[in-house]
Amino acid sequence: MHILITGGAGFIGSHLAEHHLGKGHSVVVIDDLSTGSVGNLSAFNQGRCVFNKCDLLTWEGLDEEVKLADRIYHMAAVVGMFRVLEQPIEVTRVNVLGTERLLESVARAKTLPEVLIASSSSVYGHSHEKELREGIELVFAPEKAGLTGYALSKLTNEIQAMAYRKVHGIPVSIPRLFNAVGPRQSGNYGFVLPRFIKQALSGVPLTVYGDGTQTRSFCDVRDTVRALDMLAGHPKAWGEPVNVGNPREISILDLAKLVIEHSGSRSTIEFVPFEKGYGESFWQITQRRPVVEKLQQITTFKHAWTLEMTIDDLLERNRSNIVPEGRLL
Ligand SMILES: NC(=O)c1ccc[n+]([C@@H]2O[C@H](COP(=O)([O-])OP(=O)(O)OC[C@H]3O[C@@H](n4cnc5c(N)ncnc54)[C@H](O)[C@@H]3O)[C@@H](O)[C@H]2O)c1
Repeated sequence: MHILITGGAGFIGSHLAEHHLGKGHSVVVIDDLSTGSVGNLSAFNQGRCVFNKCDLLTWEGLDEEVKLADRIYHMAAVVGMFRVLEQPIEVTRVNVLGTERLLESVARAKTLPEVLIASSSSVYGHSHEKELREGIELVFAPEKAGLTGYALSKLTNEIQAMAYRKVHGIPVSIPRLFNAVGPRQSGNYGFVLPRFIKQALSGVPLTVYGDGTQTRSFCDVRDTVRALDMLAGHPKAWGEPVNVGNPREISILDLAKLVIEHSGSRSTIEFVPFEKGYGESFWQITQRRPVVEKLQQITTFKHAWTLEMTIDDLLERNRSNIVPEGRLL
């Protein structure tokens, strides 16, 4: 199988590359390295995957690569809370126009490859539902700007994927990803677990925004990519959003305590007001728990990693090697 990954030098994209190389597939990565890094690939690559440094929005080689691909994972996007808040125009430009350009290119190909468009749990917006199922109504509060631009760009990606499925018959899957965690995730753009691991190993206080009662559900990225592989190849998944995540829910305060406990660190916990970290217009989402019944009905997917296993693995990998730029090994 020949795999093309946009954003393949990023966190999840690099794990997809590693996963498919491990299955003996050939892999081509395109990435502008705006947040990704070649180091993410060199960890496992050893020259086996082809890397093109380019901007998805302008790269002239796109049609040629799309024609050759059996499957395309579209992961390139502007992501991470800090980046999304600081670069709101880039969010819609890259996330919406990049997806449009890719789908147009696929539609021109004679043999349609399988395509996976990465959506996000952020499409659930400001929903107060405790359990997030694919069919629930989506609630947005545009005046709370902040992350709404990102959420709507991802919702637009879903609509784009469904439209190209309907008009061109593209076999497209649309996973709604919930907080992936694991090696090679950067702590620089607002992701919480790499920041906690780095703070605990450095012996400095773990920064918890707000009172820490907000909850999240974390899925090890190695589970995430197995689920994505299964969905991308499954006709029942094509044309509809499917939650991909781990239903176990944990408060951010308990996550900080868990990291301190597992690391044996003497770090304390420092509470910081949201406005200080994210600005006045920020509106914190209090809960994100996926229902993954649809994923499990369509595929045979089962989680292999617990949160404790992921934390121990990250601590082990990074114990003697705190990476200055904040990316976890
Ligand atoms: N990490 C998560 O928990 C999570 C949750 C929900 C959704 N997602 C989605 O999954 C995808 C991957 O996320 P990630 O966490 O790996 O982020 P990431 O930032 O590590 O990966 C994105 C990659 O896209 C590249 N990129 C950005 N703009 C580009 C452009 N114009 N041309 C080429 N490459 C470009 C970046 O350099 C980066 O390598 C994104 O679409 C994101 O919205 C991730």
